Amino acid sequence: EEIGKMECWIFGYGSLIWKPPPIYEEKIPGFIKGHVRRFWQRSTDHRGTVENPGRVVTLIPIEEWKLLDDYHVHKDNDVTWGVAYKINKKNIKEVMEYLDYREKNGYTIHYLDVYQLEKEEPVVKNAIVYIATTKNEEYVGPASLDLLARKIYECVGPSGPNREYLLNLASALRNIAPDAHDDHLFDLEERILNLIKEADYT
Ligand code: BEZ
Repeated sequence: EEIGKMECWIFGYGSLIWKPPPIYEEKIPGFIKGHVRRFWQRSTDHRGTVENPGRVVTLIPIEEWKLLDDYHVHKDNDVTWGVAYKINKKNIKEVMEYLDYREKNGYTIHYLDVYQLEKEEPVVKNAIVYIATTKNEEYVGPASLDLLARKIYECVGPSGPNREYLLNLASALRNIAPDAHDDHLFDLEERILNLIKEADYT
């Protein structure tokens, strides 16, 4: 018989922030280290189509990020805020089946520690995190924020408009973690709100 904890944790940094797993026991804000959140992953099945792929977030390891120009603009923003959900082990199979079904486009399972401000030790160790690595086929890589914003503004997929995904993510993050700094996300939000405003005037 396995002796151990009755629960495990899933850390969400994307749609999981506003669209929780079907079953969970507790939800806490926190951040992971060693990765940054970027809209550099193509979405052909949720927020875009094969002809017009949208953009969703993935996590870029700091070591890879350091080699990119983007690092020199945002280097003081080197943690990723999100939400950790506590899942009872008896439900984990069902929850993971649901999540795998929801996001199969290149994401694989990883384990990372979750932190909160002013606490030296992680609040959760080895939380499950879905990451699409830069080696997966749908990885796009860096693009200018203007181009990225326009793409996200325009694309629509079976799960809805790509811009809705970004705006949901930005406002949910602001609610759960007012301390979160994420210039990439909030700069894109500002650009997209401007594109929406411009369209309303014309
Ligand atoms: C997330 O919110 O962490 C997430 C959701 C779906 C796929 C990958 C990550």
